[in-house]
Amino acid sequence: MTTDWVAQYLEQFIKKVARENDRLAGKTPYIPYDGFYSDVMIERGYDWWANGFWGGILWQLFNATDQDQFREAAIIQEKRLDRALYEFKDIHHDVGFMWLLTAVAHYQVTGDEQAYRTGLHAASLLAGRFNIEGNFLVSWNDHPGWVIIDSMMNIQLLYWASEQTGDPRFAKLATRHAQTVAKYLVRPDGSVGHIASFNPDTGAFLTQLAGQGVSAESAWSRGNAWALYGFAATYRHTRQLEFLTIAKRVADYFIQQCQLTNDIPLADFRAPKVPQIFDTSAGMIAAAGLLALAELLPKSQQAPYRQAAIKIIQAIVGRYGNWQLTEDGIIGGGTEAYYRPATYEVPLIYADYFFGEALLRLKGNALILW
Ligand code: GLY
Ligand code: GLY
Repeated sequence: MTTDWVAQYLEQFIKKVARENDRLAGKTPYIPYDGFYSDVMIERGYDWWANGFWGGILWQLFNATDQDQFREAAIIQEKRLDRALYEFKDIHHDVGFMWLLTAVAHYQVTGDEQAYRTGLHAASLLAGRFNIEGNFLVSWNDHPGWVIIDSMMNIQLLYWASEQTGDPRFAKLATRHAQTVAKYLVRPDGSVGHIASFNPDTGAFLTQLAGQGVSAESAWSRGNAWALYGFAATYRHTRQLEFLTIAKRVADYFIQQCQLTNDIPLADFRAPKVPQIFDTSAGMIAAAGLLALAELLPKSQQAPYRQAAIKIIQAIVGRYGNWQLTEDGIIGGGTEAYYRPATYEVPLIYADYFFGEALLRLKGNALILW
């Protein structure tokens, strides 16, 4: 049941996205500088990992409102991304983020056949990254033995491909990868490491490495959020209880940590006390993931996860929500990386995407893409 605050936020969200869409005129947004988006495909490349989130926002809103402006703009984003596919310059494991939210969403909403083929093309590229000795999908091209926690969201593209084609190969690779991530990146307390390094030749595990958090031993909150949502989604596709158990453990850790800072996550739960840096994108990803997790549980177990998601959303919007129609970016307070102070507490497009997805999940009409 939709409560008033969800309906009110959604109305404001739709209004603001429509205004941003007019201003963007086909560009692809990421971080607004001086209040306005520029074109991240030009600045960071056609293959930048976050290039699908705007398309994802547009498909979610077209699905929810039936307004053609959102469908037309989403198709423009998908066509722009084609260039990344055929250039094949720095395509890596983030094909899931890029094409689940564009081509796969397009196919899911309209049945478009070319979008379906584009989704399968992307899934095939991801499947080709499997290391048979180590049982993992390699994350980045310049480090053939590295696996990052964010991959748990990308592998959902492989489950989609198996479900569509009836060919179990894709899903089996995804499940092997998830088991490797569970073993080497999820810690007993529910926190997660960012990068696991393996010998790419033998597949032997070497060590955990720091990524966008403080250190190899710390707890980068967005990584925690990717793991929470990614393992819940992996359970949705596989129904293997080991993945549900991990999703709950990671969720419980995330919720406990947020409670220490008034329901807004720090950028790293084990960061030094000063400076205190938050990451609302971790909060919004986790909120959407907590709602996804709750939907997979018996009714009697759902409330703590739903309530935690609602608290996080309300705390973040209360402090960082920007409903000004004359400026771009809705959710401020996102942090790209601990080692990149220029991106401390800025609006990040994926915070807006997961905010929108979470609101639609609360309303009961989100497109389920993971
Ligand atoms: N996938 C990169 C990030 O979460 O920043
Ligand atoms: N994973 C891309 C970044 O460093 O933000």
